[in-house]
Amino acid sequence: MHFENGGAEMRIPRHLAIIMDGNGRWAEQRGLPRILGHHHGVETAKVIIEESRRLGLSYLTLYAFSSENWGRPEEEVDSLMSLLNTFLERELETLLTHRIRLNVIGAIHRLPEAVQHTLIGTMERTANNRDMVLTLALSYGARDEILGAVKAIAGEVAVGRLGLDAVDEECFSGFLQTAGMPDPDFLIRTSGEIRISNFLLWQLAYAEIYFTPVLWPDFSPTHLHEAFTEFSRRQRRYGLTADQCQDDVTD
Ligand code: FPP
Repeated sequence: MHFENGGAEMRIPRHLAIIMDGNGRWAEQRGLPRILGHHHGVETAKVIIEESRRLGLSYLTLYAFSSENWGRPEEEVDSLMSLLNTFLERELETLLTHRIRLNVIGAIHRLPEAVQHTLIGTMERTANNRDMVLTLALSYGARDEILGAVKAIAGEVAVGRLGLDAVDEECFSGFLQTAGMPDPDFLIRTSGEIRISNFLLWQLAYAEIYFTPVLWPDFSPTHLHEAFTEFSRRQRRYGLTADQCQDDVTD
């Protein structure tokens, strides 16, 4: 799908993944408690979800809480969990209105029971929505996910339900928590950090990656459009030559 952004071409990825970073620094720069940065981060998430849906994305995956984030001070973890719960309860109507299906990846059993309950309820209520899939990565770590897939495959092979020869990339993808979803074609990370931080390590193999210094609470639809304009400039080759890639491979 293509849009115009002030005259520049804007191609929309099918699957956008975002590492929403910089809430803490945004707050600290203002002499505010870190949790207030997360509050603003949630508002940004709402705006970006709605803009993504408006622009016609099919899949949006947000890294909301990593497996490493459990190591943060208890007070911050508790506040993040309660923010997440409130966000889900508050935004159910938005998800229904915009026909967005909620999906979750990560070690969900580690989340507080109340959050698990709200997540399951929201996923059930939005299960028939077809216009966009919003995946929240919660208590998520890619190495953990990959190990889980390896163990599940080993188990299937051990009992003879799966032959080793059948374990190819497609089969492996089917054992990941993102099974059934196309891989992200674009990754955005805010806040100037230039790393992937254990996010979707297998799935991002061919993604275009975009780093911006903008802190997540300041990230606006205009920044999203700028990122998509940059995405449109990149030619995606999948290891082929430029000549072999005359056809548009993302559409
Ligand atoms: C990174 O900022 C952000 C997080 C660890 C949590 C992200 C969570 C939200 C934006 C809110 C939840 C979102 C939804 C959709 C419910 P940081 O604290 O690592 O910032 P810093 O690197 O500046 O310290």
